[in-house]
Amino acid sequence: MPGISDIVLSPDPRLRQPCAAIDEVTPATRRLAKRMLRDMYAADGCGLAAPQVGELVQMVVIDVDYADGKKNPYVLINPQVVEASEETMTTGEGCLSFPGITVPIQRPRRVVVQAENLDGDLMQYEAEGNLLAVCLQHEIDHLAGVTMLDHLSPADRVKAIATYNDALAAGARPGDTASDME
Ligand code: NI
Repeated sequence: MPGISDIVLSPDPRLRQPCAAIDEVTPATRRLAKRMLRDMYAADGCGLAAPQVGELVQMVVIDVDYADGKKNPYVLINPQVVEASEETMTTGEGCLSFPGITVPIQRPRRVVVQAENLDGDLMQYEAEGNLLAVCLQHEIDHLAGVTMLDHLSPADRVKAIATYNDALAAGARPGDTASDME
């Protein structure tokens, strides 16, 4: 499948770096967005952050509706979580940079995110209790060098890393989930 080989896998150090803000949307910015969307769809992901394709800039792409058949991509530039609820929820999360594992992660249940789009407009996204709420937080974390495993307790993180290493050794590829590997 085109694209999947471009995805950076943990423990690549590029997944641990803070990403630079994008000052201006240029043709290169648009090309990056297009490439990220291509890679995300190729791997059947619902979100992808620029460092996952090796670019340390603040851009994420998300499409939480693709499973329903038609594409509805969001491109978020310089996204910020501006509100997060105290109430949390726990969801099984996967990540294209950690193929083969699904991990229960606790996060705020509701978030409000501000980001620019490719036209330079400031957009606001609000999500509560759904895949979009999880995906926004998961992808924005990547821009600070934070991965889903950083939300686990040290003991659970050690377990998840062991499961991930087993999955990689068994040939897991970006987009594979825990159930694909059973
Ligand atoms: Ni991820």
